[in-house]
Amino acid sequence: MAAGSYMRQVHICEVGPRDGLQNAHHRIPTEAKKAWIQAIAAAGVAEIEVGSFVPPGLIPAMADTAEIVASALRIGNLKVVALAPNVKGFERATAAGAHKITFPVSASRAHSLANVRMEPEKMVEEVRKCVRLRGTKGPEIEAGVSTAFGCTMQGAVPEDDVVRLAVMLAEAGVDCVALADTVGYANPAQIRRVFRRVRGEIGSKLEAAHLHDTRGLGLANALAAFEEGVRHFDSSMGGLGGCPFAPGASGNVITEDLVFMFESMGVPTGIGIEKLMEARAHMVAALPGEPVYGHMALAGLPKGFRAAA
Ligand code: COA
Ligand code: ZN
Repeated sequence: MAAGSYMRQVHICEVGPRDGLQNAHHRIPTEAKKAWIQAIAAAGVAEIEVGSFVPPGLIPAMADTAEIVASALRIGNLKVVALAPNVKGFERATAAGAHKITFPVSASRAHSLANVRMEPEKMVEEVRKCVRLRGTKGPEIEAGVSTAFGCTMQGAVPEDDVVRLAVMLAEAGVDCVALADTVGYANPAQIRRVFRRVRGEIGSKLEAAHLHDTRGLGLANALAAFEEGVRHFDSSMGGLGGCPFAPGASGNVITEDLVFMFESMGVPTGIGIEKLMEARAHMVAALPGEPVYGHMALAGLPKGFRAAA
């Protein structure tokens, strides 16, 4: 790849308040969650997945999502994203005013049943209903193909199944499709291959890489996706995260480290690392005892570090 083609902006969506907190051992008080989200936005993060609209009894940490969305909408210049698992969640997210709603659509049948109690095909129909309900003025709709690189319950997930599902979702009318490595099974060669195949079928509707760092390959996979043309990444501050309904799932690729990687490569993220560290301090203070991760946070910026122009 030509050196010049590295010089492209990447878009990072912080998913810590959703993917992170749904799997955290500790609960963050609602007011602290709002302040944390404000601090993340103040660092220049332009898109934050602030929570999910699931039954409150199922994931109590997400019970305050409507209030969190309302607070995040007041920040300005922030795309407020929420996850919904069905029509009811979509209606709640739309009523709350989320700008973008993301649906988890598992490529693994076993994970789909455990996570949303629907077969993948039924989940596509659920998403199609939401696309119809939205009409012309509603929120942006994303479908995230979960377990696209393997599943702890099913084991291997055939690439053909991932491609087929992505095509079905694009035909159902979603605005964008993300590929998610829910349980951290992916390797860089696989990332390149699957993103390339899916892009070959649905073109620019393929947008984000949602990666988990469970086996330490999060950044390597992000770089592979970047080299394959991906410019949208989900990541989680402090490496929190994981799906409570996928055994063995752990945290997302770490936002601080991802920003450092791109900025030091000369790829602008729009995010200021010092301010990001301030937001991290908010999170650490609000979640005492919660294990948090991050190489950048441990080691600090290299002497003479210069962010991308
Ligand atoms: N928000 C709030 N309540 C909801 C809801 C939603 N999105 N969806 C369903 N409910 C309520 C129903 O109204 C019903 O309430 P009632 O018992 O008072 O009548 C109850 O929950 C059960 O509804 P049902 O449609 O039978 O849901 P289910 O029990 O089969 O669960 C999902 C299906 C999709 C709602 C659930 O599996 C889910 O939320 N999964 C997402 C899990 C997740 O967030 N994973 C991590 C992200 S990948
Ligand atoms: Zn995830």
